[in-house]
Amino acid sequence: MTREFVLGIGTAAYQIEGAALADGRTDSVWDTFCRRPGTIADRSSGDVACDHYYRWADDVALLVELGVDVYRFSISWSRVIPDDSGVVNEKGMTFYRQLAEELRRHGIRPMVTLHHWDLPQYLEDKGGWRDRMTAYRFAEFAKAVAIGLGANVDFYTTINEPWCIAYLGHRSGIHAPGLRDNSAAIAATHHLLLAHGLAMQALRDHAPHADLGIVLNGGPTYPVSDSKSDVKAAELFESEQIHRFAGPILSGEYPREFVPLVAGHVKQGDLETIAEPSDYLGWNYYTRSLVKHGEDGFPEFLAGSEFPTTDMGWEIYPEGLREVCSILQREYDLPPLYISENGAAFRDKRVGDTVHDPERVEYIQRHLQVIAEMIESGIDVRGYICWTLLDNFEWNEGYSKRFGLVHMDFDTQDRTMKDSGKAYAELNAARSTLKAGGGEKRINVAP
Ligand code: GCO
Repeated sequence: MTREFVLGIGTAAYQIEGAALADGRTDSVWDTFCRRPGTIADRSSGDVACDHYYRWADDVALLVELGVDVYRFSISWSRVIPDDSGVVNEKGMTFYRQLAEELRRHGIRPMVTLHHWDLPQYLEDKGGWRDRMTAYRFAEFAKAVAIGLGANVDFYTTINEPWCIAYLGHRSGIHAPGLRDNSAAIAATHHLLLAHGLAMQALRDHAPHADLGIVLNGGPTYPVSDSKSDVKAAELFESEQIHRFAGPILSGEYPREFVPLVAGHVKQGDLETIAEPSDYLGWNYYTRSLVKHGEDGFPEFLAGSEFPTTDMGWEIYPEGLREVCSILQREYDLPPLYISENGAAFRDKRVGDTVHDPERVEYIQRHLQVIAEMIESGIDVRGYICWTLLDNFEWNEGYSKRFGLVHMDFDTQDRTMKDSGKAYAELNAARSTLKAGGGEKRINVAP
């Protein structure tokens, strides 16, 4: 029996929506972080971004042109619940309901991420992810969205890349809320996981039709040298990035190194809540992790140069996707996998109404090829969700890094399909011909 394999594309609210103050939305931690000097490479913010809040219908038209099965997008929490009273802002909810309805009208399945890093500032002011209470507030938010969007959502993802929130947000401080405190990162780790478990329970009750899971991230880890300290740092990095999250979710246990560190935050029953069974695991993969023992004593991620790199300075290493999935398969009893993000930034130039981006086409093809081989070898991968629809606000890099299959002119908001978008559309069209002909669905890796 051939299993269904879906192709999709993803975005995140703060990276594309703009309309920062529209219809009652309030600040998230990213709005306030962007105002702090020295945080964002080009001193920009998501205030306007791709203006998607107003141009969403055009963007759905682009998704239709791309012919994707699934559109992965996230909800701005502070748009939907703008203040501490917890009252739902109907205008905010309506935005997402309309979007989901329009997608379904076109046969595109919505995959909704509840939390893609933009924690409401009013919760940050009360301790944010360092505070256990935020996990309960998240479950209330999950329930409100499940009720608000009704039967329109096929997949819910509780949280996107909790490792980034905990460690980039609270220890290295390069992401919001910009703290440099390992104990804050540890507290955040547990509370993010608890939030995931509590939200899974709320979603099971209020969105029984949807597939539920979380999205984690990372590549296989390599030490930069064979010195003892680098090797140890690499081991610790793999544990921090992969096992501190996958462990409790998939087997109800923290890795041994983490147990004494996190113990003070873990209450009775928490690990059972976190291990609430998932329908799928989303995995985001961009590159392998080269790690050294950092000056602050913590593992430090380095951009390697053994392989050609993208404009992020990340090595192009498709094989790493198989390597990291093999680690997961070896260590855990895995639910079906979705590769929920994969893509690349390059210095694209628009010439007239074309953007030639052969490197991105090749990047996507090579990763799809690895996925096809993984499926052959028995790994249960159910879909590939390319990152991302539009060039957008790339967090601390601002607008300087272009990941889109659609080029953005940020002065005019003009959208131009890149060659990679056209290739992705051809790939999808070839598959729908197969579907329409009743043939078996398979991944055609040659767009
Ligand atoms: C992530 C985020 C995306 C990024 C993308 C490129 O995976 O870090 O989910 O929002 O934009 O990864 O860095």
